[in-house]
Amino acid sequence: MAENTMVGSNLMEKIVALCKRRGFIYPGSEIYGGIAGFWDYGPLGVELKNNIKKQWWKSMVNQRDDVVGIDGSIIMNPKVWQASGHVEAFTDPLIECKKCHHRFRADHLVQNDSAAPEEAICPNCKERGQFTKPRKFNLLVKTYLGVVEGEQVEVFLRGEITQGAFVNFKNVLDSTRIKIPFGIAQIGKAFRNEITPGNFTYRSKEFEQMELEFFIKNNDKEGDRWFEYWKDQRMSWYCSLGLKKENLRFRKHEDHERAHYARFAEDIEYNAPFGWSEFEGIHHRGDWDLSRHNLTYKDEETGEEFTPWVIETSGGVDRSALFFLIDSYFEDPTAGSGQERVVLRLHPKLAPVKVAVFPLLANKEELVGVAKSIYKDLKQSIDGVVAFDDRGNIGKRYFSQDEIGTPWCVTVDFQSLEDKTVTVRDRDTTKQERIEVESLASYFAEKFK
Ligand code: GAP
Repeated sequence: MAENTMVGSNLMEKIVALCKRRGFIYPGSEIYGGIAGFWDYGPLGVELKNNIKKQWWKSMVNQRDDVVGIDGSIIMNPKVWQASGHVEAFTDPLIECKKCHHRFRADHLVQNDSAAPEEAICPNCKERGQFTKPRKFNLLVKTYLGVVEGEQVEVFLRGEITQGAFVNFKNVLDSTRIKIPFGIAQIGKAFRNEITPGNFTYRSKEFEQMELEFFIKNNDKEGDRWFEYWKDQRMSWYCSLGLKKENLRFRKHEDHERAHYARFAEDIEYNAPFGWSEFEGIHHRGDWDLSRHNLTYKDEETGEEFTPWVIETSGGVDRSALFFLIDSYFEDPTAGSGQERVVLRLHPKLAPVKVAVFPLLANKEELVGVAKSIYKDLKQSIDGVVAFDDRGNIGKRYFSQDEIGTPWCVTVDFQSLEDKTVTVRDRDTTKQERIEVESLASYFAEKFK
C-alpha cells in the first residue's frame, strides 16, 4: 500500500469536516450557535466511542481476575472534593488581557511566546504586555442542588472520575473477595471549567475518562514494579488497537507540572497535528487519596493494617477517539480515475460499521432480495453495526464505506444467484475474494476474533 503522502498540514481540518459530514462528531448545541468546549457524538461517533470503551473494559476488567468495575455518581458529597485536595489545588494559572479582556492559560501562552506571561502577545487583540499577573483558577464545575431558592447546596460535577473508586474502596472490599494487589476500574464523564478549550475535542469541558485505580502494598519496590507494569500494559493496548508506535511516546512529568496527588507521573503522548499531546496519564498517587479519606486496609493473613498505595492509569475516551481517527486517516493516491479515496484504517474492533452489504444493482430485485437476507443474517451474527446500501454505483458505495472505516463490504452479484457465493472486499487492500454465503458468519467470526 502506498505511503500516505497526500495528508498535509490541514489534516485537522479534514478530520473535523469528515466527523461532521459523516456523523462522528458535531459541535454541541449547534443550532443555537454552539457552546465552547462541548461536543455531541453522532451515530458513527457513538459506535467508535462505545467500541473503545468496550475494548478497554474487556482488557482491564473482564480478562483479569485482580480488577473489578464500578460506576460511581457524577455528583458527590462536596466533602469528597475538600478531602481530595481538588477544592484547594485543582487549578490552572489564568491571565487576562487588560485590553480585550480575553482570558488564557498562562502556561499555554508561554509555550507560544518566549516572554514571561505578563509580557506575552495577546492571541486575540495582538497587544503585547497587557496581561494581568497569573492567578489560580479552580477547574471544578459548580452546580446547585435543592428545590428552595436560597437554600440550595453548592455541589461539584466531578473533575476526575477517580474519587468514586476511593470513596467506594471499603464497599468493594466488604462486598467482594478481592485482596491487594487489586484494582477498581471505571469509565464515565468528568467536567472541567477549562480556561481555553480547543483543538477540536482534545480539550473539552465535558469529557469521558477510563480509569484504573490499582491498590498495592506501601513500599517503593511494589510502587516501581506496578508503575512500570501498568505503563507497559497501557502502551501495548493502544498499539494492539492499531495506533502507530512511531506516533506514541512516554513523557515524564516535571516537578512543577505534577498534579497535587501525584508522587510521579508519566503521560502517554500522541504525535498530533498540533504537537505531541497527552491522552493518558500513569500516576503514582502514593497514599494521597486513601489517607485523605481516612481509609486503610487490613491484611487478613498477617493482621497488618496499612494505607495502600495507588497506581493509576487515566485515559481519555474522547482524546483516544480523536487520535484513533487521526492515526487511521489515509488518502489513497492510487485510487485513480480522478476520484479521491479517503480511508479510515481503523482496527476492525473499533470500526463503527463492521460490514456493509450491497446488491450490485439496486434495480434488480433478485439481487436486492438476496442482499437483504444476507444483511439480516449478518446483523444477528456480527457483534456491531452491519449496514445495507443500494444507492449510486458500487464504486461510490465502496468509497463511502472506506471513508468511515468499514473493514469489509459484501456484494451480491449475478454469479451469487448461480453459485450462492458473494464477493467480500477488504478496505485496506481493496482486494476481493469470493465466499460462500453459507460460510459468511464463520468467515467474519474469524476476522473479528
Ligand atoms: N484521575 C487523574 C486524572 O484525571 P488527568 O491527567 O487530569 O488525570 C486524565 O486526566 C486524562 O483525561 C487525560 O490524559 C485526558 O485523556 C483526559 N482529559 C483530561 N482533561 C481533558 C479535557 N479537558 N478534555 C478532554 N479530555 C481530557
